[in-house]
Amino acid sequence: MSAAPGRAIGVDQDVPGILLVGGASEIGLAIVRNLLGDGTGRVVLAGRPSHRLDVARDGLALLGHDVTCLPYTVGEPTGQVQRLLRDTARHCGVVDVVVIAVGTLDAGEHAGVEALLETNVVGPATVAEAAVEALCAQGHGRLVVLTSVAAALPRDEILAYSAAKQALDTYVRGLDRAARSRGVRCMVVRPGRVRTRMIDGLPPAPLTRDPDDVARSVRRALRTGRRVVWVPAVLGPVAAVLRLVPTSLRPRRLR
Ligand SMILES: NC(=O)c1ccc[n+]([C@@H]2O[C@H](COP(=O)([O-])OP(=O)(O)OC[C@H]3O[C@@H](n4cnc5c(N)ncnc54)[C@H](OP(=O)(O)O)[C@@H]3O)[C@@H](O)[C@H]2O)c1
Repeated sequence: MSAAPGRAIGVDQDVPGILLVGGASEIGLAIVRNLLGDGTGRVVLAGRPSHRLDVARDGLALLGHDVTCLPYTVGEPTGQVQRLLRDTARHCGVVDVVVIAVGTLDAGEHAGVEALLETNVVGPATVAEAAVEALCAQGHGRLVVLTSVAAALPRDEILAYSAAKQALDTYVRGLDRAARSRGVRCMVVRPGRVRTRMIDGLPPAPLTRDPDDVARSVRRALRTGRRVVWVPAVLGPVAAVLRLVPTSLRPRRLR
């Protein structure tokens, strides 16, 4: 898409409105900062109330943005999520971009598959559906959803996470097909390893990137209207080749 000079990429108005669900996500915040560039925007950070969320709000406010926090926790019923979207529209006026960055590798000490599926697919998919509905009613907008390279290359070590991301990725691409004719586009972002608190304690991995790398790729992809974004881009062809190799023949850490 093209943006008028001075406007952030991916938005249609002079003072863009952005909702970040997973309001304290390091990747999500990098995307918001990058999309707003040197301009100012109206931003809603939706998340679990926390010091981290307050710090994120204050950081964006210091850059000159009009920021507010709204509560969001995975498991909220659809009606509550729709209310979040309405409250966001009240703050932003028009909502140009919704970024969904909710996710976890570790849903808690005694949490099982149910919690991982809830956090990595049920919650984000519920928000994605409500967001697309709201953006379609508005007549335009972009949805950006963080999935993972694991959506295309599931790994046994993170089986529930991979299955959840795979389902979320499929769902969002389906939403995109349905929403395009109504002026709305949806994008899945499939990063490999990104240096955030989410990977604290994990051993180093090749092709690890920073949140700003993800943000730059999202910005570029919003401009070109792509539906699937790999970070780094080389992961796309790597995944395509690896998927031709039977799982049992892949290196152990890629199974
Ligand atoms: N970092 C990586 O290597 C990597 C790679 C591929 C994909 N991703 C995906 O990228 C997205 C952002 O991750 P990140 O690296 O930026 O990590 P992050 O900073 O930990 O962000 C994750 C976000 O999810 C939120 N969240 C987790 N459980 C929640 C729940 N039950 N209810 C509401 N919010 C919840 C967290 O909220 P709190 O602040 O309240 O905890 C946080 O805002 C995630 O979807 C992740 O799966 C990350």
